[in-house]
Amino acid sequence: MSIHIEAKTGEIADFVLLPGDPLRAKHIAENLLEKAVCYNNVRGMLGFTGYYQGRRVSIQGTGMGLPSHLIYVHELINDYGVKTLIRVGTCGGILDSVKVRELVIAVSASTDSAIVSKQFKGMTFAPTASFNLLQKAIKKAGEKGMNFKAGNILSSDLFYHDPVDPDAYEIWRRYGTLAVEMESAGLYMLASRYGVEALSLLTVSDHLLTGEHVPPLERQENFTNMTELALNIAL
Ligand code: HPA
Repeated sequence: MSIHIEAKTGEIADFVLLPGDPLRAKHIAENLLEKAVCYNNVRGMLGFTGYYQGRRVSIQGTGMGLPSHLIYVHELINDYGVKTLIRVGTCGGILDSVKVRELVIAVSASTDSAIVSKQFKGMTFAPTASFNLLQKAIKKAGEKGMNFKAGNILSSDLFYHDPVDPDAYEIWRRYGTLAVEMESAGLYMLASRYGVEALSLLTVSDHLLTGEHVPPLERQENFTNMTELALNIAL
């Protein structure tokens, strides 16, 4: 048992998928896993362990934003010995060439969060995905015929920017940043710190330039396809 997770030692697999929404964790467990058992309900942040094609895997909700995400990632690694963590989430497209419904594979994650810069005393760390997981994801996405982009993303502390700021994402767009979400830079930083593997897979649910939004049902479909890709990496 850790501070935020009530699982007993051994109840969490060494491979964990990390959706932000705990109800997404439940949906994945119920629809894609066999013999899934819920191991956490502290703060309603559901976690499940089950089997995907015979491979034992866990799914843990993490909430939104770096602070919440990092609490779960820290405890999964340090209290439960998790070795592989794949975030499965959504993102907002920043670049024109990134299209809604597409998959974004986060090679690296820049951030406006003080969490990373503070840790490095103002110097710039480059939070980067596991090369091994990245290679596997790109190969499997290609085999599945999925449309995807791989590159740098932004992990932002803010979902709602000050309305007087005309376009908070313009500077990131100028530097080729694909999309924005709110967790991956922290995940990559902690994975580097503790010598484990991490990757973020994101579906583009909306676009900051065009204002498009994917309707909820289609969002769920895209999310399920991406989650199957993530689970296939475990095999
Ligand atoms: N901003 C931040 N995170 C997101 C967004 C967004 O527009 N869309 C999906 N996750």
